[in-house]
Amino acid sequence: MISSGTQELTADPGGIARAADMLRQGLLVAFPTETVYGLGGDARNGQAVASIYEAKGRPSFNPLIAHVPSVSAAQRFVQWSDQAEQLARAFWAGPLTLVLPLREGHGISSLVTAGLDTLAVRVPAHPTARALLTEFDGPVAAPSANPSGQISPTTAAHVWSGLGGKIAGVLDDGPCGVGLESTIVGLAGDPTLLRPGGIALEQIEKLLNLRLHLHQSGDLLTAPGQLQSHYAPDAPVRLNAMARRGDEVLLGFGSIECDLNLSSEGNLTEAAANLFASLHQLNKTGRPIAVSAIPDTGLGVAINDRLRRAAAPRDS
Ligand code: TXA
Ligand code: MG
Repeated sequence: MISSGTQELTADPGGIARAADMLRQGLLVAFPTETVYGLGGDARNGQAVASIYEAKGRPSFNPLIAHVPSVSAAQRFVQWSDQAEQLARAFWAGPLTLVLPLREGHGISSLVTAGLDTLAVRVPAHPTARALLTEFDGPVAAPSANPSGQISPTTAAHVWSGLGGKIAGVLDDGPCGVGLESTIVGLAGDPTLLRPGGIALEQIEKLLNLRLHLHQSGDLLTAPGQLQSHYAPDAPVRLNAMARRGDEVLLGFGSIECDLNLSSEGNLTEAAANLFASLHQLNKTGRPIAVSAIPDTGLGVAINDRLRRAAAPRDS
C-alpha cells in the first residue's frame, strides 16, 4: 500500500521507533545510509517489496539489496564463504554489498531477488541506518530512494522531491557522507565486480589478492544500474568538457572556472560526496550540463560510471 501522506521523521529514538513500526506494518520508509538514502521495506513481505517497485516506477526485473545490522544477521539469509568473511571483516559496516547464494529457509520475498538464487546483502555504517535495522530486527530491502532512472538522493530533500506523498515516512539525518552507492561484488561464482561504488576496486583486489572479473553488460540480470541511462538529470549531460558551450552549466573538478565544483582541490572522495547533490542542483537550472574530466582511478571509477549513465541516450 502506498500511503497518501508522507511523515517527516527525525533521527532520534522516537523517530527511529516509528520508522521501524512502519516497516513492520509493511509500509515504506526512506532512511539515510552513508552512501545514499534508501527506500526501505520489509524484505520478507512481498506486498511491501511490490510497493517499493511501484513507488519508484522501477522495472521489476531489477533485484534489490537486503540491508541487515550485522554479519550474523546476513548469515541467516545467505551461504557464507571465506571470501565473504574476508571482505566483511575489512569493509563492513560500510559501502560494500556482497552477492551470495541464498540459504535454505531464508524467507526473503522472491521479488527482492527477482527470482535469482542469490541475494545482495549489505551492512551499512550510518548510525541511523544501523539503529533502524537493529530496532526493526529484520532484513530491509532498499534501493536508492529516487524515482527509477533519476539522480540518486543524498539528502532528505532529494527524497521528498522525488517520492514525497508516495511513501509512509522519510527519516532525515542530513547529507550522506560517501555520496555514491555501495560497490557490489558477486561471490556466487568467480569474484566479480558488479558495480563500482564507495569502496575502490583496488582495495578489494588487494585484500583478496586476486583480480575481480568485470561485469559484462550483456550478462543476464546482474548489471546493477544495468539500464544504460540511469542517474539521469532532465537535461542532456556532456562529459570530459574543457569549457562551457552554448548555455551549458559546467560542473568542474580541480582548478577550473565553472558554475559548481565537485572538488576544487581535485579530491575524489570529496567529489563523490558532492556528485549527486551537484547534479540535483544543476538540474534545477533547466540548462544542459557539461562535466569536466574525472581521473579514472579509485573512487573516480564509480564517479565516471554514474556520469556515463547520466549522459547515456534516453529511451523516453
Ligand atoms: O549504496 C547502495 O547500495 C544503496 C543504499 C540504499 O544501500 N542501494 C542501492 O540499491 O544502490 P539499488 O537498488 O539502487 O541498486 C542495487 C543493485 C541493483 O542495480 C541490482 O542490479 C543489484 O544491486 N543486485 C541486487 N541483487 C542482485 C543479485 N542477486 N545479483 C546481482 N545484482 C544484484
Ligand atoms: Mg539506484
